Amino acid sequence: MKQYPSIQIASNIPVSDKAHELSLKAPGLAKSADPGQFIHIRLSTGSDHPLLRRPFSINDIRGDRVSVLYEVKGSGTELLSKMTPRDTLDIIGPLGKGFDIDPGKRHHLLVAGGMGIAPMGFLGRRLKSLKLKHELLYGCRSSSELIPPDIKMCRLSSDDGSCGKKGLVTSLLPGRLEDCQDPVVYACGPWPMLKAVARICRDKKTPCQVSLESFMACGVGACQGCVVRDSDGGYLSVCDKGPVFDSRRIDWDQDCVI
Ligand SMILES: Cc1cc2nc3c(=O)[nH]c(=O)nc-3n(C[C@H](O)[C@H](O)[C@H](O)COP(=O)(O)OP(=O)(O)OC[C@H]3O[C@@H](n4cnc5c(N)ncnc54)[C@H](O)[C@@H]3O)c2cc1C
Ligand code: FES
Repeated sequence: MKQYPSIQIASNIPVSDKAHELSLKAPGLAKSADPGQFIHIRLSTGSDHPLLRRPFSINDIRGDRVSVLYEVKGSGTELLSKMTPRDTLDIIGPLGKGFDIDPGKRHHLLVAGGMGIAPMGFLGRRLKSLKLKHELLYGCRSSSELIPPDIKMCRLSSDDGSCGKKGLVTSLLPGRLEDCQDPVVYACGPWPMLKAVARICRDKKTPCQVSLESFMACGVGACQGCVVRDSDGGYLSVCDKGPVFDSRRIDWDQDCVI
């Protein structure tokens, strides 16, 4: 982990009704990041607001370019959406523990819901470079929110049926687990989706890794602001023990974290 006080923006463009893609000229980050890790961006320029950095998954790395996909939620992401290639950003990263790829597994299933697509591009690229068979199951609310994924083998679902199968992305998973030999699942999306994926994988005795979100402050394990309850009654800080966890380590009965 390193602090980069002045990373140049290469582009910052809308990619769907809701999402933007931010591309950064960041050779240091590009060399050191792994899929599932995140960067912590300071979004205040010339003022103290917002005071805290904001975390974003690394979406992809191409050469020295690092990209993130983000949705405008509040004041920080609103500010980010106004930035241009003339601007620079203060970034700490790469942070956290990413996906643990087991090359011995025969079929790698990536499951994304909504903005949970964000870390999947980088994960797909890494699996491709390792020549590991992989496939994306991707659900969104409607086609206008779809961010075209850069993964060849992809099955879609949408809440309104405007693209792919009508329904939740979790409805695609049991069938694929039946059809695939020796699968492993990597999931990112809203808490209820992750909870459903974890339950399906537990029932099918399939290993599953989930990328969690939580409100974050320090991003490096110092403030305990991001903890979730684990299945042994203890706590896990999402920023440094995660954000990617074995789904069996999480207490899925706790209230939705975000
Ligand atoms: C490890 C990690 C990776 C993330 N990766 C991405 C990503 O790749 N793309 C992306 O768009 N977002 C991602 N997020 C969520 C993103 O950090 C928040 O949406 C962002 O911090 C909101 O900042 P804001 O100032 O715009 O909103 P705020 O003013 O802070 O909050 C506005 C609204 O957004 C909600 N919000 C705040 N923080 C989060 C959060 N962590 N998750 C979900 N909702 C939140 C609040 O409940 C509130 O309703 C990630 C979060 C974590 C913890
Ligand atoms: S954000 Fe401070 S410990 Fe995780």
